[in-house]
Amino acid sequence: MSNVLVIGAGGQIGTELVLALRKKHGVQQVIAADIKIECPSLLSNGPYVQLDILNRDAVRNYIIYKGFDEVYLLAALLSATAEKNPDFAWKLNMDGLFTILDLAKEGHIKKVFWPSSIAVFGPTTPANNTPQTTVMEPTTVYGISKQAGERWCEYYHTKFGVDVRSIRYPGLISYKSLPGGGTTDYAVDIFYKAKAGHEFVSFLRKDTALPMMFMDDAIRATLELMSAPIDSIKIRSAYNLAGVSFTPQEIGESIKKIIPSFTIKYSPDFRQDIADSWPNSIDDTNAQEDWNWKHAYDLDAITSVMLKNVDGSAD
Ligand code: NAD
Ligand code: SER
Repeated sequence: MSNVLVIGAGGQIGTELVLALRKKHGVQQVIAADIKIECPSLLSNGPYVQLDILNRDAVRNYIIYKGFDEVYLLAALLSATAEKNPDFAWKLNMDGLFTILDLAKEGHIKKVFWPSSIAVFGPTTPANNTPQTTVMEPTTVYGISKQAGERWCEYYHTKFGVDVRSIRYPGLISYKSLPGGGTTDYAVDIFYKAKAGHEFVSFLRKDTALPMMFMDDAIRATLELMSAPIDSIKIRSAYNLAGVSFTPQEIGESIKKIIPSFTIKYSPDFRQDIADSWPNSIDDTNAQEDWNWKHAYDLDAITSVMLKNVDGSAD
């Protein structure tokens, strides 16, 4: 039975990842950890510990005392929030990673998952069907931290044999927990507005295509990557992962198929520059070949599930 710790468990990905890991390994085997004092209600069926990943001594003492087969490190500032506080974003996104990689190097963690992002790419990257290996000149502090993190993951694997695995997640769409300050958050907010019968104001232009993915696909990818045989993992920076790619106008049209009265208008803000620097779509051939990845949800399937499940009164 695996002994698992998820740090940053109270966020958009962590909430659903903990639930999925508890289904796989057993509720008591998966400890949710977050800086939040209160255990998020969706995770209250199992163990919860308050941990600040920046408190290196506390994290080290806890992990050395317990010993873990798998640690998932999700605590980070996302793209839009990071631009407002670059110094802190760099500190949180990098220091936490070193704490966990060092513990794995010392043998206290057998396997690490640390997520990267499409934000590692930049305006000089080929934007369509972006390859796994290509020009990477990110222009956001978030992207720079993810790119540096990828290099460190590969370094710890090559030099010290750390079994660290990573995915460049696209923008993630979910209804169980809200997104935490990214550029792709609009593609979640839009469903709440549509269901509430309100007009949606997009902070991105109508023709801005970005790579996106439904949360169920992202969680399945994470579990599949982490359970893949060690020899099949050829990439120790982070794998490209593709789901769907769409613009605000296209997601609006998909919603209109179910709610014909839905309206959308466009008022781009600082997040437009971030989105303009990211790919339109992703080539994930390596993930397909190495660990048999295939996404399941297309845009209309995502729209249907989201409109069925989001709370139309929580506007
Ligand atoms: P989120 O903002 O929703 O959640 C982050 C969680 O970390 C929060 O619950 C927060 O309380 C917690 N946290 C913050 N500071 C902490 C600290 N010092 N110690 C412990 N916990 C702390 O983020 P998310 O969307 O769930 O993303 C998780 C990871 O996945 C991040 O590394 C992010 O960069 C990456 N990612 C997310 C997306 C996406 O679309 N959601 C896409 C690509 C990559
Ligand atoms: N969804 C994330 C963001 O917009 C991408 O990593 O920040």
